[in-house]
Amino acid sequence: MKDKIDSIIEEINQFSIEDTQALEKFRIQYLGTKGLLKDLFGELKSVPNEEKKEVGLLLNGLRTIAEEKYNTFKETLDAPKATASSIDTSRPGEDSSVGSRHPLMLVRSEIIEIFNRIGYTVSEGPEIEDDWHNFSALNFPPEHPARDMQDTFFIQNEGEEMALRTHTSSVQVRVMENQKPPIRTISPGRVFRNEAISARAHCFFHQVEGLYIDKKVSFADLKQTLLYFAQEMFGEKAQIRLRPSYFPFTEPSAEVDVSCSICNAKGCNVCKNTGWLEILGCGMVDPAVLEACGIDSKEYSGFAFGMGIERITQLKYKVNDLRLYSENDVRFLKQFTGSL
Ligand code: PHE
Repeated sequence: MKDKIDSIIEEINQFSIEDTQALEKFRIQYLGTKGLLKDLFGELKSVPNEEKKEVGLLLNGLRTIAEEKYNTFKETLDAPKATASSIDTSRPGEDSSVGSRHPLMLVRSEIIEIFNRIGYTVSEGPEIEDDWHNFSALNFPPEHPARDMQDTFFIQNEGEEMALRTHTSSVQVRVMENQKPPIRTISPGRVFRNEAISARAHCFFHQVEGLYIDKKVSFADLKQTLLYFAQEMFGEKAQIRLRPSYFPFTEPSAEVDVSCSICNAKGCNVCKNTGWLEILGCGMVDPAVLEACGIDSKEYSGFAFGMGIERITQLKYKVNDLRLYSENDVRFLKQFTGSL
């Protein structure tokens, strides 16, 4: 009986199945109701008792081999063949959606381009800063209350206290320390302030700060540069106004408003019926800052300004909640598809 089983296994392995007819022949011969396996299981009765268990196991193994062979061939023979005629060449292609640039990056590039046209280069610096570059060189004395204007995140780095930069003025300090005037540069980048997150404030945002240092740079140059920027950004009709302000690193200092482009300065809820929107801070670089960075303040003067990219984007695209910029909601981001 055992020999018989062995030779049948051999037979099954040799059996060639090339088409469905051969497959059917195989099924009838081995697995059918009158097939070989049925006969063999019938013969099990006459096997002596002590061999029954072993022969039974062998027969089960044989059945598995036959069934597996049958199933494998059935699957391959049943599988639809991709013939030329089964491919529908008229079916429309599948859409692959195009991504979009982030609105803040669109506006960042636009600001950079506007200043590139009047000779400003781009400079970048580290987001984790030491006290000197973020504060001291910029005329913030230790314990000076002006440090409270910018709620700073401090971190420990190898025992040294470092700050997450609160403005990119820190980059301008680095530029002044390393370059000789004339200097004309803007520094775009991410900055951090310890503020509660709301529609109007976030713990990080983006700035572009500008610096111009040369002989005889005047406040009139600053005003004209900012007017040029406002008109390039918001259209020819844009007007600016300067209000006196205070920053430790500029003297005199001003805050700059641009005429509201949403209501054409007629008054709306965005400009709170004033017709004006605040967009940046600026001033003449304090001589103490020039000296701290190794520039002779008797020979050179300069101006600086700084703006938030979120604020400009908000006005340009009429976005009223700052949180939208960092939540990655595709319904928001998709609206900028196709913009360059
Ligand atoms: N650094 C200031 C801020 O972050 C902005 C500023 C830059 C003001 C340059 C004046 C001159 O608020």
